[in-house]
Amino acid sequence: MRSPGPNVKEILERVHLLEVVQEYVSLKKRGRTWWGLCPFHSEKTPSFSVNPEKGVYYCFGCHAGGNAMTFLMEVQGLSRSEAIVSLARRAGITLSEEALRDPREDARSRERADLVHVIQVAQQFFTEALRSPEGEEARRYLEARGIPPEVTERFGLGFGGRPGALADWLGRHGIPLELAEAGGLLTRSPGGAYERFRERLVCPVRNLEGVPIAFSARLIRPDPDAPKYVNSPESPIYVKGESVFGLHQARMPIRQKHRAVLVEGNFDVLSLVSAGVQNVVAPLGTALTVPQLRLVRRFADTVVLFFDGDEAGRKATERAIPLLLAEGVEGFVVATPAGEDPDTLVRKVGGAGIEALVDQARPMVSWWFRGLTTRFGATPHGKRKVIESAREVLSAEQDPFRHRRYLEELAQALEVDVREVVRMVRAPARASDHPGQGDTCPGVERRFLTLVALCPDLLAQMLASSADPVRSLLGSPAARQVFQVLVKASLEGEDPADVLVRSATDGGPLVQQISRDVSSSARPADPDQEFREIVALLQVAALEREARDVEARIRLAGESGRLEEVATLQKQHLDLWRQVMELRRSLQTAPSKGPLAGGAGPPSVAGTG
Ligand code: UTP
Ligand code: MN
Repeated sequence: MRSPGPNVKEILERVHLLEVVQEYVSLKKRGRTWWGLCPFHSEKTPSFSVNPEKGVYYCFGCHAGGNAMTFLMEVQGLSRSEAIVSLARRAGITLSEEALRDPREDARSRERADLVHVIQVAQQFFTEALRSPEGEEARRYLEARGIPPEVTERFGLGFGGRPGALADWLGRHGIPLELAEAGGLLTRSPGGAYERFRERLVCPVRNLEGVPIAFSARLIRPDPDAPKYVNSPESPIYVKGESVFGLHQARMPIRQKHRAVLVEGNFDVLSLVSAGVQNVVAPLGTALTVPQLRLVRRFADTVVLFFDGDEAGRKATERAIPLLLAEGVEGFVVATPAGEDPDTLVRKVGGAGIEALVDQARPMVSWWFRGLTTRFGATPHGKRKVIESAREVLSAEQDPFRHRRYLEELAQALEVDVREVVRMVRAPARASDHPGQGDTCPGVERRFLTLVALCPDLLAQMLASSADPVRSLLGSPAARQVFQVLVKASLEGEDPADVLVRSATDGGPLVQQISRDVSSSARPADPDQEFREIVALLQVAALEREARDVEARIRLAGESGRLEEVATLQKQHLDLWRQVMELRRSLQTAPSKGPLAGGAGPPSVAGTG
């Protein structure tokens, strides 16, 4: 939680955000806000807004937001200090680079650079090994699976080589054994080094810029005793749940088609690409995660889930849908025939056939509702059960238009009148009728939203230091969506409380709840202090959520005997709890002052996410 320091603040004050952004985006003025097509995701109508007075930008489509520094970081892929140096130059401020340097960041970036280097050297080995005589079997395997040389080239596929070959190569390239181990290429044992990917077909995993950061390697010959895939362990440059296989290659096609096709397997990606379907990515064997979805969302508003036609595929689809809903991504589902997957299907129907299947994919919510109706049946009792289960999906959606459409889809699936559905959805005693009990979001998030709605000035200050960190502190999807509504109102110069109350009749349960809270409360005497306290509470909750997540990962890693991972995770876990304790203590010891009090300037929310 470092603060930007005085230099940065001064630079940001002197720089004209509008000029910086206009080098990349053409903007038109409407009211106090400038609008244009978002550079961070594909769109046809402008939802990217710049508020020059506050020095902030925000996209209502992909939720990218921040100040001139974060803009340059995102759009040019610069590090924080590189962005600052570039801004300082524009502002005519001379900076010694020394002044900006954080020694901790230095050590970390050196470690990352070393890892990137070792992965790159290994990648050279793998591609050369595939071309060499030893790669013959791997080449034949690719041919048999219909992967042509252009695709092999484009994805940088390789061969893991014979035992010992990679270790020799790395040695010749001056890579120390420890580094090769840290990069997950070798494991050392008393008998010598063992190459993790030996004799396998190696797919590099790339970051968005196309730099290889890990490998995922498949068996070439069936072997019941070995796992089908072996993957790089996580490292400072590779976090599995934050990487998407094929996204680097697919991002332009995704942008052009305005949609991404999400499949389960690396080979589904390779097969579809080989058949000319280019906008395909896969989540590296994990259940789809929020960070993965956010990466994909930068390029597409629409995601088509195209999973295997089996029970696992259906479950994976069911798990992905709430994520898409929460992130406001329009989702569709391809009904994969039983026993098939995208790879086997493309062999039967070809690339054009796949495009047709993707075009005919069903909206995810209607897919979900149909699944419920088949499960529970069309009896009155069954229909009631469907409504009960559907309520969860409906309450996650705060956008009034989509909410309405989903009600209509539900009515269609149940073959009843939409007014009937509305009545049935609202029928049970609603939690929101009893404030404080069974909220649709935790109480502190509700307090936060109410405060922000009551104090537009606070929200404006917050936006000046980027809204995204605060947004990520909100754990409940419903709360995040209400926050979006408030941010939008503020940027458009409207009174957030007004907007909220006006949209209450169409909005989801949380909008109604907050607008009731807003109408029945007054602006607090010391909003800044209240804000600091609530943010600290939100931080505690966010850290606790993260800690629980790490706990689950420790259990998983322990179960599959990945002891090094367990140790790393345990360190992380301990660190998280330390932060929680510290925050808790500061909340207790300074109840009247607030934990973040004493700092100058607006409440600092940057860097808390
Ligand atoms: P699949 O078994 O469906 O793999 O697992 P696939 O890529 O479609 O391979 P083929 O078509 O059978 O040859 C889906 C994904 O799960 C991860 C890989 O990322 C794989 O692509 N996975 C699978 C592993 O990480 N380890 C495994 O042992 C199996
Ligand atoms: Mn598969």
